[in-house]
Amino acid sequence: MTLLKIARMGHPVLLREAEPVADPTSREVRRLVDDMVETMEDANGVGLAAPQVHVSRRVIVFKAPAERAGPDGPEDAETPLTALVNPAFEPVGDEVELGWEGCLSIPGLTGAVPRHARIRYRGTAPDGRAVEREARGFHARVVQHEIDHLDGILYTMRMDDLRMLAFSDEMRHFAEAARAEE
Ligand code: NI
Repeated sequence: MTLLKIARMGHPVLLREAEPVADPTSREVRRLVDDMVETMEDANGVGLAAPQVHVSRRVIVFKAPAERAGPDGPEDAETPLTALVNPAFEPVGDEVELGWEGCLSIPGLTGAVPRHARIRYRGTAPDGRAVEREARGFHARVVQHEIDHLDGILYTMRMDDLRMLAFSDEMRHFAEAARAEE
């Protein structure tokens, strides 16, 4: 397996619409997925889309660990490491929630991004299996973030209040402000 170079904001590959994959089970796709997983883990990320490693194809990897599941508990808010080819989602209901996101292509920053609270998503695993799941909380958020990458959309482009874009190591000020309001 190989560590891949991660494209950073400003590189045009991140703004391009990625091409669908004709054969999700091909050897190239399996190798790409293995390399993406290794690259994501090495960078301590929880999601990565192929355009972020300069491959403009509709492939994503992600995980939603239990500790990120939030106060509602882990049920359908956590998911093990998953790779999906040609993924798609639709919202379930119309609840939108604001949550903090980072991105390996925007290192050092964190922003508050509105996302659908619940979604249903589908795609093909690299072993050919069809995957269809419902997700909420952090799980729903990471899937929407990664699928956005396939359409050339970065999380900053989804933000409606840029005052809530910050360096990750200044995030304590938001926690302090929230405590002061209580
Ligand atoms: Ni990202």
